[in-house]
Amino acid sequence: MKDLLSLKTSLNEEIEKILNEQVKVEAHSSAIYLAMSSWCDDQGFDFSAGYFAKQADEERHHMLKLFNYINDRGGKAISPEVVNVPKDFESFRSVFELALEQEMHVTAQFNNIAEKCFKVKDFVTFQFIQWFLAEQIEEEYVARRILEMFDVIGEEGTGRWEIDKHIPKVTYNAE
Ligand SMILES: [Fe+2]
Ligand SMILES: [Fe+2]
Repeated sequence: MKDLLSLKTSLNEEIEKILNEQVKVEAHSSAIYLAMSSWCDDQGFDFSAGYFAKQADEERHHMLKLFNYINDRGGKAISPEVVNVPKDFESFRSVFELALEQEMHVTAQFNNIAEKCFKVKDFVTFQFIQWFLAEQIEEEYVARRILEMFDVIGEEGTGRWEIDKHIPKVTYNAE
């Protein structure tokens, strides 16, 4: 009789690899957001510091969701090494520009994963990543909306103070 357990995994090797890469991307996002939180705190932007701390937490959850999925499907999740985490940022605005760039990068990554799922006909993983793709709509929307505030409110005078105060109120409502 064939030993089914010795087949070890039902997860395609390429998919396991790309998902582990995404675990790393999410861990990196989490670390970058934590760095942004610290910078904002240091600069006196308390609401933004809180916003980025919450983002850092969410990214860690994204990482764990992927991590557990890999193991649950019989693959081997790899605890990622996180490098290249910035400490300093050019300006208040540049922090949010970087945040949007990071989210756009993540969306592109998930599109790549979706493409690979189709290639190897792994529709289970394809279905699993739908949650992440939907989540990216919100992540990008909020990042863009915050950047718009820099233009609408302006940074002159008490502008940055005003922008910071509004950060926690920026939410996405699909309805
Ligand atoms: Fe994420
Ligand atoms: Fe994100």
